[in-house]
Amino acid sequence: MLKIVEYPDPILRKTSQKIENPTDFKTKQLISDMLKLLRSTNDGLGLSAPQVGKNLQLCIIEIENEVFTIMNPKIEKLWGSEVVREEGCLSFPGKFLPVKRSEKIKITATDANGKKQVIRARGLLSRALQHEIDHLHGVLFVDRAVSEVKY
Ligand code: CO
Repeated sequence: MLKIVEYPDPILRKTSQKIENPTDFKTKQLISDMLKLLRSTNDGLGLSAPQVGKNLQLCIIEIENEVFTIMNPKIEKLWGSEVVREEGCLSFPGKFLPVKRSEKIKITATDANGKKQVIRARGLLSRALQHEIDHLHGVLFVDRAVSEVKY
């Protein structure tokens, strides 16, 4: 059973490894377990593999009943105005901070079927993608928080 890793566990600061076999049994199992875990939280929109103790380039986002399974993502473009909005993170229970993010994003990634996907997003999905992809580089929302004491 997976468990959410909380700050300051050092795994949250590591750079994640590329997933070589996106459709093998182990990866599919991990994706399904992470989705179950994400859905068991009250208000989580996204979860990254490092947050369950796996340094793999995988994250899952569920917004308005749509699930995005994102492996080996690459941010192609970030643009639009910079928007400050309160953010939380399942690895920081009860902590919410204003974070500045670009309004729009375009990424390429591998999807749950092992196929290349392009996601263009704005608003909440753009914010969630930026937050989760940051996790794969060991970057946490507290690093990007505006006008609050840094960790
Ligand atoms: Co997070």
